Amino acid sequence: MQNPFVYGQEVFGEIFCNRTKEIKELVSDITSGQNVIIYSPRRYGKTSLIKEVLKKTEKEGVIGIYVDLYAVLKEEDFVSIYAAAISKTLSGSMERIISNLKDIFRSLRPKIVINSQGETEIGVDLVKDTNIMIEDVGNAVQRYSDKYKKQVAVVFDEFQQIGLLKTDKIEKRLRGIVQTHGRKVSYIFMGSKKHMIYDMFSNPNRPFYKIGRHYPIGKISAEKLTFFVIERFKSTGISIPEDIARKIVDIAECHPYYVQHLGSSVWKLAEHKRIDEKTVEDALTLTLAEEKSAYSNIWDELSLNHKKVLKMLVESGQENKIYSIENLQKFNLTASVVQKTIKSLLLKELIDKSNGTYDINDVFFKQWLLRI
Ligand SMILES: Nc1ncnc2c1ncn2[C@@H]1O[C@H](COP(=O)(O)OP(=O)(O)O)[C@@H](O)[C@H]1O
Ligand SMILES: [Mg+2]
Repeated sequence: MQNPFVYGQEVFGEIFCNRTKEIKELVSDITSGQNVIIYSPRRYGKTSLIKEVLKKTEKEGVIGIYVDLYAVLKEEDFVSIYAAAISKTLSGSMERIISNLKDIFRSLRPKIVINSQGETEIGVDLVKDTNIMIEDVGNAVQRYSDKYKKQVAVVFDEFQQIGLLKTDKIEKRLRGIVQTHGRKVSYIFMGSKKHMIYDMFSNPNRPFYKIGRHYPIGKISAEKLTFFVIERFKSTGISIPEDIARKIVDIAECHPYYVQHLGSSVWKLAEHKRIDEKTVEDALTLTLAEEKSAYSNIWDELSLNHKKVLKMLVESGQENKIYSIENLQKFNLTASVVQKTIKSLLLKELIDKSNGTYDINDVFFKQWLLRI
């Protein structure tokens, strides 16, 4: 039987838990033409969430263009990935799509290409001048909206990738374009690198300053996730006691990815026997064993101070405690070194700060650290 838990890819339908409030708010933002900046640590479910949102807005007549910028290494990649995403939303024969695209592009020429998976799809012939290409692909969505008399929502996923490019050509051009599009086109900028996204959008010196509403995505409530875990087991004919489902959620710290991952491991051990606390512990041990080489690699790359501060965090947790004299003496560190190291761990996205407390982002890495 198929495992009812899924992790490492987008989830939808019954494998997607809750987020009703977020869906409602984002649907309303998009239909009213609002620009939004969505961010969270990795794997909180941004991509899954926005795809659910786009399904809903599509029903209200909004054309959703989903652009995954993860693979962008240079300006040209942005142009071709964006153009391909636009073409994917058009239906009909290849010839028909190309002819429609010719109406919305000015200098880029649509053509049939073979992608890296060997499939035929529609791409564009690039032109020499990068600025012209960015202008053209950027303004194409406005012309698209005009041609079909429909509202358009453009989602730029992994947008932090643009901030890593050598020049800020895209940021500068796109700023102007986004501003002229008004309410007919709404832009959703999404990013995993919380701090980088924060800098791109909150720094008055950067082009995207104040371009939209900030929308941080949080975890999911323990109650909703516990119910979700029970339902997932039930869908395969297995019943799991509520307190055990809750234990999975608690170990996973209400992080959707880790709930699915641990849920999946427990399910594998659960066939033909009763699920109890021991099953969850065994599943965690197995999962940590599977992740061992990945975690040892991270650990080996860290400096001694990084290691000490991580250990300190998993052992004490609270911000005020890590600076206590007792703690500093125990780890033989000074307050200023701890401060500097914390900053560096935040940048590496190994830790995050919420409600005044620092925490390890990867819940299983934290469990692994507790065991070394
Ligand atoms: N609403 C949700 N319900 C259940 N699982 C979720 C949910 N959102 C995310 N997940 C879990 O987290 C994983 C990562 O989700 P994804 O949407 O790719 O996150 P992100 O885009 O933030 O990195 C999914 O594979 C799934 O296991
Ligand atoms: Mg994502």
